[in-house]
Amino acid sequence: MKFKVSVPATSANVGPGFDMMGLAFDMFNRFTFETGGDGLSITGCEAQFAKAETNLVYKTLEKTLQSYGRPVPAMNIHFDTDLPLCSGLGSSSTCIVAGIMAANQIGGLNFDKGEILRIASLIEGHPDNVAPAILGGFVAAIIENDFVYWHEYSISDKLSFYALMPDVRVSTEEARRILPKSYSLSDCIYNLSRVPLLVEGLEKADEQLIRAGCKDRLHQSYRLSLIPEGDKVFNYVKESDNAITTYVSGAGPTIVAIVVNDDDSFGKEIADYCDTLSLNWRVRKMHVNHRGASLKIIRP
Ligand code: HSE
Repeated sequence: MKFKVSVPATSANVGPGFDMMGLAFDMFNRFTFETGGDGLSITGCEAQFAKAETNLVYKTLEKTLQSYGRPVPAMNIHFDTDLPLCSGLGSSSTCIVAGIMAANQIGGLNFDKGEILRIASLIEGHPDNVAPAILGGFVAAIIENDFVYWHEYSISDKLSFYALMPDVRVSTEEARRILPKSYSLSDCIYNLSRVPLLVEGLEKADEQLIRAGCKDRLHQSYRLSLIPEGDKVFNYVKESDNAITTYVSGAGPTIVAIVVNDDDSFGKEIADYCDTLSLNWRVRKMHVNHRGASLKIIRP
């Protein structure tokens, strides 16, 4: 059996929606699975991840098959990845989702998308990357009693998202460890009250609502301290007349700029600005991916 799983990049939190909402983008990690042969081989990824114990796709696949009493066959897994690692664009979620979808295919488990989302969220610990990775679009989700509740929101096609990706890695563990253990009531209210405004703003491409809604007091200021030149880029975008606003994507270091009716002015402006910085910042315009993860059979 040979098949390919494609999983989109995701941008979690989107400002105030810490651990509960995210967007899927048109940038993909692709994984080709071919069963048979002798043992396990993993190709196309960094050498440190080419082993059963360190490869998140394989570990997820193996754990899923074993927990449903299915044998784990010999196989090759080939990585063809566009997403930078530890960049805040959901690369580990792509591995978890691909591992579960591959187990579903190999083990004939008949999972629907809801079950894939439930398993993936329990592995990741929060659903805000895996939900849009599986479903596509703009999704809010919560885990309660091992069950995932989710809702897909519409998002205006007048909006563009620029991912500003510095050439550094930030580990999600570290970016979670530095967060406070408790928050003031006013900081909680600050974020909670903004989420519905932002959701409405993104649906209608309403600049005022997006600007007012896409703010945060729970994680971004702490995480910007882990991103070299992060503050500079964040503040530059906030002041730009060509962008509505900005947020730290997931745990960072990628910073996302939201632009309405894009005429490429922002893309040119930010590329020029990034050229003045010390780090190499890659600028990529993203469109929302509405399809989510997909699986294509190459050979039954
Ligand atoms: N919501 C998560 C965080 C996304 O901000 O830590 C990164 O996995």
